[in-house]
Amino acid sequence: MGPDLTHLASRKMIAAESLPNTPGALAAWIIDPQRIKPGNKMAPNPLAPDDLQSLITYLQTLQ
Ligand code: HEM
Repeated sequence: MGPDLTHLASRKMIAAESLPNTPGALAAWIIDPQRIKPGNKMAPNPLAPDDLQSLITYLQTLQ
């Protein structure tokens, strides 16, 4: 039910143009999307720091 993330790493912005596509912004979005864009349909994902780092590293490979 989420958007296509296939070319995520090639994009300048995420979350309907509301965030720059940087590792920090991506992490903030994944942990608590409602804080960034209230009312959107993505649930919070409270990941452990190591898991979050691994996920960001993976997402950055999606050119
Ligand atoms: C660790 C798991 C997840 C990751 C890495 C992730 C990643 C992302 C990213 C990067 C975006 C921004 C996409 C864009 O700009 O096009 C996004 C948006 C979104 N995600 Fe997730 N997501 C996760 C879990 C979920 C879950 C569990 C749901 C559904 C319950 C979900 C639903 C959505 C929706 C509906 C949006 C669009 C929000 C909007 O812009 O209004 N995501 N997700």
